[in-house]
Amino acid sequence: MKKSKYITIEEALKKGSGEVNLRGWVYRERKSNKFVFIVLRDESNIIQCVISKSKNPEAFEKAEKLTIESSVKVSGKLKEDERAPTGYEVSVADLEIIQIAEPFPITEHQSPELLYDNRHLWLRSRKLNAVLKIRHTIVGAIHEFFRNHGYFEFDAPIFQPSQSEGGATLFEVNYFEDKIYLSQTWQLYAEAGIFSLGKIYNMGPTFRAERSKTSRHLSEFWMAEMEAAWMKLDEVTEVAKDEIRYIIQQVLKDNKKELEILGRDIKLLEYYAEAQYPTIKYSEALDILNNKYQMNVPWGKDLRTNEEAKIAEHFKVPVVVTHYPTEIMGFYKPPSKENPKEALCFDMLAPEGYCEIIGGSERSLLVDDMINRLKADGEDPTIYEWYFELRKYGSVPHSGYGLGVERVVSWICGLDNIKDAIPFPRTMLRKTP
Ligand code: 4AD
Ligand code: MG
Repeated sequence: MKKSKYITIEEALKKGSGEVNLRGWVYRERKSNKFVFIVLRDESNIIQCVISKSKNPEAFEKAEKLTIESSVKVSGKLKEDERAPTGYEVSVADLEIIQIAEPFPITEHQSPELLYDNRHLWLRSRKLNAVLKIRHTIVGAIHEFFRNHGYFEFDAPIFQPSQSEGGATLFEVNYFEDKIYLSQTWQLYAEAGIFSLGKIYNMGPTFRAERSKTSRHLSEFWMAEMEAAWMKLDEVTEVAKDEIRYIIQQVLKDNKKELEILGRDIKLLEYYAEAQYPTIKYSEALDILNNKYQMNVPWGKDLRTNEEAKIAEHFKVPVVVTHYPTEIMGFYKPPSKENPKEALCFDMLAPEGYCEIIGGSERSLLVDDMINRLKADGEDPTIYEWYFELRKYGSVPHSGYGLGVERVVSWICGLDNIKDAIPFPRTMLRKTP
């Protein structure tokens, strides 16, 4: 048999019969006196292979040495077998061992910490393989969504001289003889970019020195942001809803198999992909929390995780909440004209306990108000002079938002912890491998 043509396991499963040449890693192995069974894995799927002592003594002798994660090439005949994990089995005629693996440090039923310590190896698991494929689809869908709607990709520096989302979560870095911070958001630079490009977007690494050890916070994560000239709050919230529906539609189109591996409720995702998402004001959210669920949240307090979860659970779809109290919002979120106590801002809350996945707003055009708010936060407004200049030369209303990529990956995959939504997670307590 000609050995040059290797196909993936997924291609073999589709082919269903005949001779195949496969290469991959030993996912599971079981040995008896007469047979060695290996479950072979590659990037695409798993398949059972059987090596018979009576039919193929030479291959059998080699196969007996195989350990978990050994790398091999196999050739043989494919046949249907309903007992095999993916419904087919390769009866091996030829086995080539590339490397016998040392005892693999990950065995069944490991503690989460051991899995994080061995992340470089755990990436090979079926779970992370499935999550990473879904993440790939989500990232691609975000680029497609914005490019299909006339947005230009626009980059901002990661080294930034100021905060924008609260000084407490800034990462300080030595910068020659000075100090500088890692980007908390692309937004301030995007607000300059829209005067050239109109509608722009970006997806990039974002840094927050979060002291919270929750299952929803990373210190390095990817944020997908957009900013658009002329856009107001009522329009930007609809863009966010369309983006989320589009992302889910693409995952349903490309990743049914991965969703099944993760045990995700596909029917529910199909529902989210087409449903209408409500927009409510913060004060309406309080009405629901206080009157329907006796939660007693006073006006003026930010929503806590359990309160966000309750709102999304109430509607059973993602919910946009607007008009949070100005006082607890960032300096660039403008007070509404009708009621300055409320800011023209929004969060999108995902159901099933996943809570905030998007945060955004109209952008303040009131330079004095912004200066006062920065001062009240102990910030030096002079660093923001370039930003305030944008309000001097043909200022226009504009809005934007940021979507937490790992928050969305976690929700769509149904993960317990955001750390599994990124290949090498960084949190307050985890900076290796
Ligand atoms: O709500 P945030 O802080 O909004 C901003 O940074 C705005 N400047 C964005 C904009 O308007 N262009 O962050 C946006 C989103 C959150 O809704 C959340 O999904 C995610 O980023 N996020 C985090 N994800 C993981 N770990 C963290 N520590 C996160 N902090 C924010
Ligand atoms: Mg937020």
